[in-house]
Amino acid sequence: MSEDGSISSTIPPCCSAVSREGRVVNVVPDIKVEPKPESDELWFKDAIIYQLHVKAFGDSNNDGIGDFAGLTEKLDYLEDLGVTALWLMPFYPSPGRDDGYDISDYRTINSDFGTMQDFRRFMQEAKRRKLRVITELVINHTSDQHPWFTRARRSKATSDARNWYVWSDTDHRFAETRVIFNDTEKSNWTWDPEAKAYYWHRFFSHQPDLNYDNPRVLSAMIQIMRRWLDHGVSGFRLSAIPYLCEREGTNNENLPETHAIIKKIRCALDSYMPGKVLLAEANQWPEDVNAYFGDGDECHMAYHFPLMPRIYMAIAQEDRFPITDILRQTPDIPANCQWALFLRNHDELTLEMVTDVERDYLWSTYATDPRARINLGIRRRLASLMDNDRRKIELMNSLLMSFPGTPIIYYGDEIGMGDNIYLGDRNGVRTPMQWTPDRNGGFSRCDPTRLYLPMIMDPVYGYEAVNVEAQSRSLASLLSWTKRLISVRKSSKVFGRGSLTFVRPANRSVLVYVRQYENEVVLCVANLSRSAQAAEIDLAERTSRRSAMLLTLSRSRLTGSFGSCSANLMHRRLRSRAPRQNSRRSWSPTAGGRCSTAVPNWCLNAMFFRHFLRAGAGLQSEGTCQRPISSAPYPSLRPIPIWDLRCSRPKARAKPRIICCP
Ligand code: GLC
Ligand code: CA
Repeated sequence: MSEDGSISSTIPPCCSAVSREGRVVNVVPDIKVEPKPESDELWFKDAIIYQLHVKAFGDSNNDGIGDFAGLTEKLDYLEDLGVTALWLMPFYPSPGRDDGYDISDYRTINSDFGTMQDFRRFMQEAKRRKLRVITELVINHTSDQHPWFTRARRSKATSDARNWYVWSDTDHRFAETRVIFNDTEKSNWTWDPEAKAYYWHRFFSHQPDLNYDNPRVLSAMIQIMRRWLDHGVSGFRLSAIPYLCEREGTNNENLPETHAIIKKIRCALDSYMPGKVLLAEANQWPEDVNAYFGDGDECHMAYHFPLMPRIYMAIAQEDRFPITDILRQTPDIPANCQWALFLRNHDELTLEMVTDVERDYLWSTYATDPRARINLGIRRRLASLMDNDRRKIELMNSLLMSFPGTPIIYYGDEIGMGDNIYLGDRNGVRTPMQWTPDRNGGFSRCDPTRLYLPMIMDPVYGYEAVNVEAQSRSLASLLSWTKRLISVRKSSKVFGRGSLTFVRPANRSVLVYVRQYENEVVLCVANLSRSAQAAEIDLAERTSRRSAMLLTLSRSRLTGSFGSCSANLMHRRLRSRAPRQNSRRSWSPTAGGRCSTAVPNWCLNAMFFRHFLRAGAGLQSEGTCQRPISSAPYPSLRPIPIWDLRCSRPKARAKPRIICCP
């Protein structure tokens, strides 16, 4: 490397950058490490991610703040739950004015959470349990307490040090840019008396945006990324990435310059340690989010922000349209990429990616108390959004686990934790995990007044009523149900990797989709309404001959499954007839004398089939009897043995079964 920091021609062009002054700057300094290749670079497609904040999970030294030692003690719980990756929210030194997203040092951990040794031990223990760890790379902004900023504000306006952030003499530049935290901020510019200039920030005014027109900024970020890769992390959530670069006359979101930066980060990641992932937080419309996959050369994963509110919309309206419509608008993504799916997270349930009319509808449905609203969203957890209705919570999770993408579970939602909308900002959904009915919910032995946030204590969602210990003892609990759902999801690659085809029965309360991957087919039937619904599902027209056969052959099973799983919920006993050879390839609930069925309220039923190309294999029907279909003109099908999620005890696994959730 030359003295001015420029690089030799041996660096691939994607790993270098040209500064404003025209100098070439190495953004990937040459550091030697043993590469640790992944055996399957697409591992993230089959992952089930659990999102948590270290401060909220377990407090080992009873100072009221969760820490790495406490989290390590809880790894058995996470392993038992069945998740395969943990996404840890920022755990770096921070003034804590944006829950750690205001970072003042990227290189180490916040002393509130322990020592680097605690972190290393945590990583080791996670690895031992085959739990991968994804951390945050907050690249858009730092805290105003970060030394880069304190140095920038006191340096000369023309200096290199000042150039790490975005400055202006007026607050009129970039006038077309929206304010994201519109409840707290009025402008994206804040006057700095020390620098005697305005600095640019897309979020809180104490979070100045870094200047990605300065190649040294990217270089520094890449070094930070490598540092955490060396510690064994499997990927990074790239927080708030649509806003990296600014150009006059634009809205400063999704700019080509921003994509160029992300490509460089990806290149640096792949060349340093292949098989690690980037997860894009880009709260944008589908076609704009899609751009963050690039041609498979930007992020591996991106949150499907537009889908999430539309799942809530569909359940509220008891109509599948919001879901089918947004997935219709969702472009195909490169084969090596994946959507990240979520129902809730640590932020408000954001309603930025819906129309004004839709937002008003969702606000009036899910946030009747205006205190539940913040910015353009709703600060509530899943259980309280669903009015603590177990069937709705299960349906939401069933959709999460069966839609195309990698599901992310927000800590506490697996036990139906509630929230506290009186806590300010988004803190109401960030309260301590509820482990037991003991003091502080078993999270900490400290004086309750010392807790970083108070426990949820109300009679419905409080830790005495909702906690891991109690739910672990009951096979009928939400926690046990969630475990079974996760195990079903993990039993097949079809959910993480398969295609999705909608079937559109006339009844719009019923959402039907076929997931298919290689020789595996799953038919999912979800009833989005509060009452039992009848539906005719015709697979013949839209899907392949093979899928059409699936329905013909499976008719009696589907019907039987509904009958058995919901006997107490349905008003009439479902009738079924054995499938006939060459019968119409439709499944009619009402037509005289034919197969009659209905879908129980707020539920998803899924049927798994695996093709047997072996001649003479038979379709096993529910129970013990074998229904030979040797005369069938197609390869026969066999349901994957899965027990009914609703039943309290796993039935004999040898018997093939349909999963019915709930
Ligand atoms: C990300 C985080 C959010 C934070 C924001 C600004 O969007 O998810 O919690 O407030 O960045 O730092
Ligand atoms: Ca602690």
